[in-house]
Amino acid sequence: MQESPMQEMQAPLTGRPVISATGLFTPADSISNEELVASFNAFVDRHNAANPDAEPLAYSSVEFIEKASGIKARHVMSKAPILDPDTMCPRLPERENDELSIMAEIGVAAARQALERAGRKPEDVDAVLCAASNMQRAYPAMAIEIQQALGIEGFGFDMNVACSSATFGIQTAADYIRAGNARSVLVVSPEITSGHLNWRDRDSHFIFGDVATAVLVEDAAIAPAEHWAILGTKLKTVFSNNIRNNFGFLNRAAPETADTADKLFVQEGRKVFREVVPMVAQMILDEAERLGIDPEGLRRLWLHQANAGMNRLISTKVLGHEANEDESPTVLDTYGNTSSAGSIIAFHQHSDDLVAGDTGLICSFGAGYSAGTVFVRKVS
Ligand code: COA
Repeated sequence: MQESPMQEMQAPLTGRPVISATGLFTPADSISNEELVASFNAFVDRHNAANPDAEPLAYSSVEFIEKASGIKARHVMSKAPILDPDTMCPRLPERENDELSIMAEIGVAAARQALERAGRKPEDVDAVLCAASNMQRAYPAMAIEIQQALGIEGFGFDMNVACSSATFGIQTAADYIRAGNARSVLVVSPEITSGHLNWRDRDSHFIFGDVATAVLVEDAAIAPAEHWAILGTKLKTVFSNNIRNNFGFLNRAAPETADTADKLFVQEGRKVFREVVPMVAQMILDEAERLGIDPEGLRRLWLHQANAGMNRLISTKVLGHEANEDESPTVLDTYGNTSSAGSIIAFHQHSDDLVAGDTGLICSFGAGYSAGTVFVRKVS
């Protein structure tokens, strides 16, 4: 039968999205809880001495941080200024416009590793999504700079869904492939979280770390023999002010509040814990049912890395028992919370040992609220 002109114009719906490879860039420097708390407490001493009439600030403690979160250390791009009680934030010198930006630089490093592991040349990639919880500038898009630095044709754009940026990026890439609009898409997540963390806030100063990850999502038809079939993706958002960052270009229009603490990361950690755990566990169970996957048969969960206790509860609800390290690996102990990159680091570092047919879940959750699930099966 002859195709109508309309049918001819439509792209074929043939793509089957898979994860071909991942990449990781880890900053060389790391801050231990001991170093962090020593610097924070020195700041508290100075602040209290300088403000004898104000409510004194309380010390932070290594024991609290590890017990409440599971975090023991975090990598950062700019260690000394963060630990200097007079500075307590990263100092990353601005670069000239013709130099590669720092976010692009670490994104490119992660992306190169993903391409190398997939045996893919940049010219074979159709699109770059820079999916992260903050962009260092409004435009041009970080993704387009990364695209140019790698020598990729096609297109790129930025997307921000806070801690869920990478899974939202994976679904977006998978949809391009399902629709036949691309066959090879890089999802790059450079997370310089140290720039939006309030290092003087006792409640959260220990949370974040810096890193970059990359995920190469491709059509199965061109993927390397060993890859991860994407069985299904699901995204969810529910508005909440419990994790918020008011930094933005309109702060300039309200100069009297431009420097206040709410222009950095703030959260109601307890509420986040309480509200997000059941939401995410239910989402995983519903999606597993939709896909006909027995959740108790999942070989591994690569969960968002914000809090070890949250992951324990979520994995227990999903697997029917408390997961061990093999079933739900932790990277937050050495990386801290790396926002959207956390579940991808876990996948990158703890997936090579799985065998063909093993099924697992990449899952993120965070500000928005936002949550994303990507069920995958090893193929080789
Ligand atoms: N050092 C020592 N004590 C501290 C402290 C610190 N750095 N920070 C807080 N405390 C104290 C509090 O003052 C409080 O004392 P009180 O009981 O005398 O009032 C006590 O420790 C408990 O504080 P709380 O904030 O309730 O701790 P928590 O057990 O909820 O743990 C988090 C805090 C942030 C680790 C935890 O809530 C969490 O991880 N939530 C989820 C966060 C999340 O996923 N966010 C997404 C980010 S993208």
